[in-house]
Amino acid sequence: MTSTLHIGIIMDGNGRWAERRSHPRTAGHRAGVRAVRRIVESAPSLGVRSLTVYAFSADNWRRPEMEVRALLRLLRTYLIYETDRLIQQGVRIQFMGRRDRLSETLVEAMETAELRTRSGECLTLRIALDYSSREALVDAAKSMAEAGRFDRQFMAEALGTEDIDLVIRTAGEQRLSDFFLWECAYAEFVFTERLWPDFSTQDMKAAIEVYSRRTRKFGGLPAMAS
Ligand code: FPP
Repeated sequence: MTSTLHIGIIMDGNGRWAERRSHPRTAGHRAGVRAVRRIVESAPSLGVRSLTVYAFSADNWRRPEMEVRALLRLLRTYLIYETDRLIQQGVRIQFMGRRDRLSETLVEAMETAELRTRSGECLTLRIALDYSSREALVDAAKSMAEAGRFDRQFMAEALGTEDIDLVIRTAGEQRLSDFFLWECAYAEFVFTERLWPDFSTQDMKAAIEVYSRRTRKFGGLPAMAS
């Protein structure tokens, strides 16, 4: 199968998953990482070319320090233990977002993972970390001003991503929350009640099926859509 789909996932429900089990919220985030592993593994066989996951938004710094620290530590652990497996699976990792507020050890793990997985061709796993789409747009606008080029193509190049076809958001939430605003201009949305840690390959398949039944017109008429 040729992989062409660009999917964005806003992973919600880790906290609720943990609370329902009387576990600390961090246990929910750990289960969330397991769900990421599952979905990354099955994505290429479902025709997914890139998977953009919202791991930590620029606004997530508002959470209790302990939870923030645990989340960032989990991400670092994921990178350290998962990179070999990702290389075997042909996954290329790319991080989006600010790096200057993250610890040196985390940034080092991110850079190592990006470098080591750079030739992965089956799937791009784009991890949004300390990410705000509005900030990314401001930065891109600055590059445009420096270059004196003001067109859509240059904006897309400055952002360094591609358009997202389908956004999946879990745990019953139905917002975009500063997630890749430019790239989602024509995205389809699938919302599910499933909590992120319970999100399965079957759920991913179902979301893609819903997406494939949608008629994407890009403002035109069905026959004109490419
Ligand atoms: C939202 O659920 C989830 C997050 C803010 C963190 C998501 C991060 C992960 C699943 C780990 C990412 C890992 C990798 C490897 C990319 P919530 O905590 O807001 O849950 P709630 O809505 O039930 O409170």
